[in-house]
Amino acid sequence: MDKIVIEGGVELSGEVTISGAKNAALPIMAATLLAPGVHYLHHVPRLADIRTFRKVLGLMGVQFEEAGLDGPLVVDTSRLTGWMAPYEVVKTMRAAVLVLGPLVARARQATVSLPGGCAIGARPIDQHLKGLEALGVKITLNQGYVEAKARRLHGAEITLDVPTVTGTENLMMAATLAEGTTIIHNAALEPEVADLARFLTALGAKIEGIGTETITIHGVNALRPTAYHIMSDRIEAGTYLAAAAITGGRVTINNAPVAQMSAVLEKFHEAGVRFSATDHTIRVEPGDALTGVDVKTLPYPGFPTDMQAQFMALMTLAQGASVITETIFENRFMHVPELNRLGADISVSGNHAVVRGRRHLLGAPVMATDLRASASLVIAGLAAKNTTEIHRVYHLDRGYAHLVEKLTALGARIRRVPA
Ligand code: EPZ
Repeated sequence: MDKIVIEGGVELSGEVTISGAKNAALPIMAATLLAPGVHYLHHVPRLADIRTFRKVLGLMGVQFEEAGLDGPLVVDTSRLTGWMAPYEVVKTMRAAVLVLGPLVARARQATVSLPGGCAIGARPIDQHLKGLEALGVKITLNQGYVEAKARRLHGAEITLDVPTVTGTENLMMAATLAEGTTIIHNAALEPEVADLARFLTALGAKIEGIGTETITIHGVNALRPTAYHIMSDRIEAGTYLAAAAITGGRVTINNAPVAQMSAVLEKFHEAGVRFSATDHTIRVEPGDALTGVDVKTLPYPGFPTDMQAQFMALMTLAQGASVITETIFENRFMHVPELNRLGADISVSGNHAVVRGRRHLLGAPVMATDLRASASLVIAGLAAKNTTEIHRVYHLDRGYAHLVEKLTALGARIRRVPA
């Protein structure tokens, strides 16, 4: 296992380009199962989770080809030889449950491991299963696996108890080939759901209400392969914004989905971060001392839970206090004890974390616990005096393409070494 070593205190400067969105690429890769043939997916990020998902789809007979460094990911779903997502893979990446909807729609069957919990919470999929049963899928839970079987899926009207992102995605994908019309109420509004819906439309699906909480899908008999450009990663963009801000740097963030970042940009503005934003570019400049602001994570368009840890790192050096409330996951404060090891002053009570700004942080060895928590430790390490060592960096590899290279290009003194 590697570790990342950062000599903090460098003001970042220069330009960074945001990669494709992991949470759009994963459901879109799953959706290729719906349309037998060769798909060309552009702007797929080079991430561990993408590599893991390629393994899952590969087990089903899907073939891949990479057309050059910046070329598309070529996905050939002409022949399926299996329809199982095994525990060994799903336990490392719960997003693998996204094969459920497409497999029952195309192959009329699927055997997918229940994801089990993960570091940040129980992560149930009851809404996925409830919706699939409404579409005519017979679901059996057997020794930790979901066994799904269906003759022809039929349309249904489904109201989700929670606006689940992958739940909305699974049901939308399954409904594209169902007989009749499906309406999903209380659908997730995250931009990655809309990106998937646009991809499905490009395959020939008939979808109305994209980007709204009521999505209507008119089933069709078949879908055709396509080429598609995946949206940029708003969480990666927010992460670099926090890194630039905490170091008092002057950084241009290119290829950022600014229109989908309003809640995040508003909070950075309230905290006193100086930046300007156009359609796809955010320019950060050094400013005055930061001010502690309160943040509450909410489903989109609210402040995203996936930016909570990164924003908390920024607040550790703000003037005054900041109350950060996590409403989406039940255990998403594991970065707190690690940030406190760097000299932060954060106390947790239930789903609230109170951050009292300090004048500086001091480098120390810390441990990454989940994907976004590890990003918050990098952000804090960039500002902390002396050396910060971050262990278990495989968490970072799941969601950040070329992180060390991108930060090195911005002047950070950061390297990756065997632990
Ligand atoms: C997606 O996870 C993202 N992952 C997560 O990003 C993100 O944090 C999350 O949405 C919230 O925005 C992908 O898109 C691959 P949910 P997902 O289902 O779909 C409850 C990252 O860092 N729930 O919207 O699993 C659930 O317990 C990852 O990239 C049910 O109760 O999240 C949670 O409290 C982390 N029953 C809430 O809904 C269900 O059937 C939101 O979960 C499904 C979910």
